[in-house]
Amino acid sequence: MAVPENDQFLRALRRQPTDRTPIWIMRQAGRYLPEYRELREQAGSFLNLCRTPEYACEAALQPMRRYPLDAAIVFSDILTIPDAMGLGLGFSEGTGPHFERPVRSVADIKALGVPDPHQELRYVSEAVSLLSREIGDRVPVIGFAGSPWTLATYMIEGRSRSDFEHVAEFLRSEPEQLDHLLSILADSVALYLEAQIEAGASVVMIFDSWGGILDGEDYVRFSLQPVERVMKKLGPVVPRIMFARGGGEQLTEVSRIGCEAIGLDETVNLRAAREEVGQTCALQGNLDPAILRADAEDLRAAARALLEDYGPYPGHIFNLGHGITPDIDPDQLACLIDEVQKFRAVSA
Ligand code: CP3
Repeated sequence: MAVPENDQFLRALRRQPTDRTPIWIMRQAGRYLPEYRELREQAGSFLNLCRTPEYACEAALQPMRRYPLDAAIVFSDILTIPDAMGLGLGFSEGTGPHFERPVRSVADIKALGVPDPHQELRYVSEAVSLLSREIGDRVPVIGFAGSPWTLATYMIEGRSRSDFEHVAEFLRSEPEQLDHLLSILADSVALYLEAQIEAGASVVMIFDSWGGILDGEDYVRFSLQPVERVMKKLGPVVPRIMFARGGGEQLTEVSRIGCEAIGLDETVNLRAAREEVGQTCALQGNLDPAILRADAEDLRAAARALLEDYGPYPGHIFNLGHGITPDIDPDQLACLIDEVQKFRAVSA
């Protein structure tokens, strides 16, 4: 693959010096943008938007037209894999995703196969190809998937915003079966990401949004080890980012799973994280998304404080600690990106 014209993001991922700190935003395509809401209306539903490569490509391009971002991310969802496994994904307004046929028994796990990314999930690699073609050599394109653990929590609970009651029951009564489910998911995620890389993604990211509900050894066994399996299968063909939401207590363990960068949520102190793992991994994050509701001057000051906190070292990619929310004024994001791109670290 050719080196993109703007390679700040790739350089930071490799912990090489950059001219400035690169920035992109989790959920940069989404409901806070009026043009996204219009496109979703046209597509009829969020799922149809994801499943139609032309719409998905357009959604991913919308934030790129508005802002000078340093990376584009494919427009899709992490729940495409369980959907392709036959669980029957639906989205309802206000309550988020749900599955018609959640995984509740050993028999349910036995019935699951690894989806073929060139069949059931073909629409995703098609969206990646289209987007990569449209973006050309301008900026890198990020492909993504959910972590096996995060996918398993949705598959077992059957919906979001749950109290993880069924997951806890599985953990207690069938831990080996849970390992088995996670290994099927790890194989599925690896194949799925390989197909996205083949289609043009030059970086991949794994969203472990629910690792934080596990602690200690359970976190290592059920959240980190399956991701390590994915990383091993992929190899270092492109930079790999692990979004370790809620993993702040175990960053050293996270840094050993074979990723080039760790995505941090807003609860982690960025300077402490750099001191702990900055020699091994680049760090992505981690402004509190709520700060986008502050007035412009406070927002700019918070961005500078975070950049200063990381300090004049290579290996930082600016992002939020979690996705941007639908209530944010798009001009606030413009303001944040402007501040980050103006900033020049002063060497100590
Ligand atoms: O970052 C991007 O711009 C790429 C797009 C992207 C989406 N989902 C689009 C989306 C990405 C990277 C995801 C990942 C995702 N999906 C995660 C991991 C990240 C995280 O947030 O922790 C998770 C847990 C999901 C599952 C999911 N999808 C949930 C819980 C929801 C409902 C959220 C809500 O705010 O209602 C979704 C829906 C979703 N995924 C939307 C978008 C733009 C909103 C859909 C709509 O238009 O109504």
